[in-house]
Amino acid sequence: MSDTKEKLSAITIALHWLVSITIISLIAVGVYMTDYEVYALYPIHKSVGMLLFLVILVRVIWRLKQGWPEAASNYKAWEQRLSRIVHWVLIIATVTLPISGMLMSGLGGYGLAIFGLELLAATPNPDEMGKMIPINGPIAGAAHEVHEIAGKVIFAAIVLHLCGALKHHFIDKDGTLKRMLGKRIS
Ligand code: HEM
Ligand code: HEM
Repeated sequence: MSDTKEKLSAITIALHWLVSITIISLIAVGVYMTDYEVYALYPIHKSVGMLLFLVILVRVIWRLKQGWPEAASNYKAWEQRLSRIVHWVLIIATVTLPISGMLMSGLGGYGLAIFGLELLAATPNPDEMGKMIPINGPIAGAAHEVHEIAGKVIFAAIVLHLCGALKHHFIDKDGTLKRMLGKRIS
C-alpha cells in the first residue's frame, strides 16, 4: 500500500481527489458567500470545512509517513524543485485554512457546529441584534486575515499546480496526470 514510480496507492489517489475537489468548492462558496453576503451558506461552508479538516489531517499524516511520491518521469531539476515547493504550499494551506476558519468563527463568538451538531455555543450580544460578543476579538481578527490571505495563496498555488499537471499531460506527454488518475504507467 505505498506509492511507487509506476503506480500511486489507492489511499494517495482517494485523499488527493477528495481533498482537492472539496477545497476548490469551499473556495468558490467562500468567495461567493462573502461577496454577495449569502449568510445561509456560512454554516454549510463551516461544516464542510471542519469535516474536511479530519480528512486533511489523515492526508498530512499519510504524506509525512510515506514521503513524497517519486516523480512519474524524468523531471528537470527546476521542475522537481518547483513542484515540491507548490506541493508544500498546498499541504500547508490546507491545514491553515480550516484552523484559521475555526479560530475566526469560534473566538469571534459565532460558535462552531457541524450540520447542527454544536461544538461551541455562539455568544450573541443582547444589546445588538445579530452581533456577537467575541471570546477573543484580536485573535479572531488575526485569524480572519490569515483565512483570507491563505485563501488567495492556495488559489494561486492551485492555478500553478493545474498548469503543471496540464503541461506534463499535453506537452511532455508523460504519465504524471494518468498516475494520479489511478493508471499504472511505465
Ligand atoms: C479547507 C477549508 C476551507 C477553505 C478552502 C476555505 C476558504 C474560504 C475562502 C476562500 C473564503 C473567502 C475569503 C474572503 O475573500 O473573504 C472563506 C470565507 C470564510 N470562511 Fe472559510 N474555508 C475553509 C474552512 C473554513 C472553516 C473550517 C471555517 C469555520 C469553521 C470557515 C469559516 C469562514 C467564514 C466565517 C468566512 C467568511 C468570512 C467573512 O465574512 O469575511 N472556513 N473561506
Ligand atoms: C485542479 C485539479 C487538480 C489536478 C488536475 C491535480 C493533479 C495532480 C497531479 C497530476 C499530481 C501528481 C504530481 C506528481 O506526481 O508529481 C498531483 C499531486 C498533488 N496535488 Fe494535485 N491536482 C489538482 C488539485 C489539487 C488541489 C486543489 C490540491 C490541494 C489543495 C492538490 C494537492 C496536491 C498535492 C499535495 C500533491 C502531491 C502528492 C500528494 O500529496 O498527493 N491538488 N496533483
